[in-house]
Amino acid sequence: MSHSIVTEFTPSGQLRLGVFFQGVNSGTVWKTAESGSQTDFESFRRIAQTAERGLFAAFFLGEGLRLREHLGRPHALDVAGRPDAQTALAALAAVTTNIGLVATQNTTYNDPADLAHRLSTLDLLSGGRAAWNIVTTDNAWTGANFRRGGYLDHADRYTHAEAFVETAKRIWDAWDDAAIAASASSARWSAEGAVRRVRHTGRHYSVDVTPRLPRSAQYRPVLFQAGDSPEGRDFAARQADVIFSAHPQLEDALDFRRDIVERTLRAGRGANDVKIMPASEFILAATPQEALEKKAWVRSLQIGPQQAIAYLEQFWGRELQGYDPDGPLPEIDPVVEETSETRGSGFHGAKARQLADQWRAEAKEKGLSIRQFVSAKTSRGDSTFTGSYTEVADRLAEYARTGAVDGFNISPWLIPTGLDDIVNHLVPELQERGVYPTQYAGGTLRENLGLATPLRTDAAVEASPVTA
Ligand SMILES: Cc1cc2nc3c(=O)[nH]c(=O)nc-3n(C[C@H](O)[C@H](O)[C@H](O)COP(=O)(O)O)c2cc1C
Repeated sequence: MSHSIVTEFTPSGQLRLGVFFQGVNSGTVWKTAESGSQTDFESFRRIAQTAERGLFAAFFLGEGLRLREHLGRPHALDVAGRPDAQTALAALAAVTTNIGLVATQNTTYNDPADLAHRLSTLDLLSGGRAAWNIVTTDNAWTGANFRRGGYLDHADRYTHAEAFVETAKRIWDAWDDAAIAASASSARWSAEGAVRRVRHTGRHYSVDVTPRLPRSAQYRPVLFQAGDSPEGRDFAARQADVIFSAHPQLEDALDFRRDIVERTLRAGRGANDVKIMPASEFILAATPQEALEKKAWVRSLQIGPQQAIAYLEQFWGRELQGYDPDGPLPEIDPVVEETSETRGSGFHGAKARQLADQWRAEAKEKGLSIRQFVSAKTSRGDSTFTGSYTEVADRLAEYARTGAVDGFNISPWLIPTGLDDIVNHLVPELQERGVYPTQYAGGTLRENLGLATPLRTDAAVEASPVTA
C-alpha cells in the first residue's frame, strides 16, 4: 500500500488529557487529612473513574522495578508502594469503559514475546484501550533484581529497545484478521496460514514466536515512549505513537515539537504522526491569589526537611544530616568525582564539585534555603500550571492553537481526590474554548487520541504459516 507522507506539521487545535498515578514520591502530598491510600485499589478506581468523567484519554502507571538506594538505605525520594502496572490496569479495565490504560514497561529487563502477549491480553480485555509506555530504564542498579546484574549501557539499551519493539510489532502483525473461525460451523478453529511465525536473531536474544492472541479492536496496543536523550528521541520518532515528554513550558514545548517533527520526517514518517503529551502538575483555585497560596502549601508538604537533605546527599555523596534544611546549601564539598542522580544516565556525568558550586551560586543568587532550592529542582517546578481555572484554561488554549503539544499527562499531587477540580472546573473551561472533546471519539484509545490504524507491514511477517 502506498501513502504520501505529510511533511508539514499542522496543529490539531485540540488537547487530550492523561493522568499519571505515581505513588508516594516527592510530588505527592501524603500527610494531609484528605490523603488516601497509595496502594488500595479503591484509590486507583476513584482516580480512573474521575478521569473518565472528565473524558481523559489515558490513565498511566509508571514502573520502578527496584527502590533506589542511597548511602545504604532506600531513597527517601523514590516511589514507594507501586503495584505492578499491568495487573492494576487489568483490574481497572473492569471498572472503566473508555479511558486508555497505559503501562510503563521497560525493554531492558523484559522479553518481547512475553511482554507482547501480556499487552495483547490487556488490549483484548479492555476492548482496545491498552498502551505500552516504552522505557529503557535509566539506572544501573535495577539489574540486581534480575539474573543479569548491571546490564546494558545507555547506547546499547536503545539498540536493544529497537529490536525488542520491532519484534513485538511483528508478533502483533502475525495474526491475520480472519484467523479465528467465524462460526461454529467452520471446519477449523483457526484458519490455515493466518497465524504466522516470527523469528528474530540478534545480539541480545534470538526468538522464534507465534502469537497466541488475535489483534484487538485498535489493532495493537498504542505505543508511548518516555526518554529524552537524542537516542531516545530518534527511537520515538521511528517507533512511537505518542511521546510522554518532559517539556511542558510553552517555548520549550515548541522547540521539542520542532525537534520531534524533524526527527519523525527523517525516520520516513509524517509530520503529525507522533503525538506529544508532557508531564505536568496543576495547582488550581477559583482565584489567582488562592492558587498561589495553595501552591505554597502543596510545596511545603511535597518536600519535607528530610527529603530535602536526602536529595542533596545523592549529589554530595555524603551524609548531610547536620545541615539545617531551612539554611543555605552545604559549604562542604562532595566526596565523589562523578555523580549521577540515578547512577546511570540521569545526570549525564556532571562533575559533583562543579555541580555543587553551580547550585550554591544559584541558591545564593535567588536567596533559597536547602528546602526551597530542592523544592524548585524536584517538584516539577517547570511543569506546574498554577492559577485560576480560567487563567490556566487560557494558557492551555495557547498550546492547542500553536500545536506545542497534543495534551498533558497530569500527575495529581493528592490521591485520590487530586483530579476533582480539574474535571469539575478546568475541563468545562477548555470545552468552552473549543479545545477539548465533549464526548469520547470512540471506544479505543487509538480513536480517542486521533491516531491512525497502523499499516500492517507484510514484509515484516515471515511467510511460514502455522496451523494451530
Ligand atoms: C516523563 C518521563 C517518565 C518516565 N517514566 C519512567 C518510569 O515510570 N519508569 C522507568 O523505568 N523509566 C521512566 N522514564 C525514563 C526512561 O527509563 C528512559 O528510558 C530513561 O530516561 C533513559 O532514556 P533517555 O536517556 O533517553 O532519557 C521516564 C522518562 C520520562 C521523560
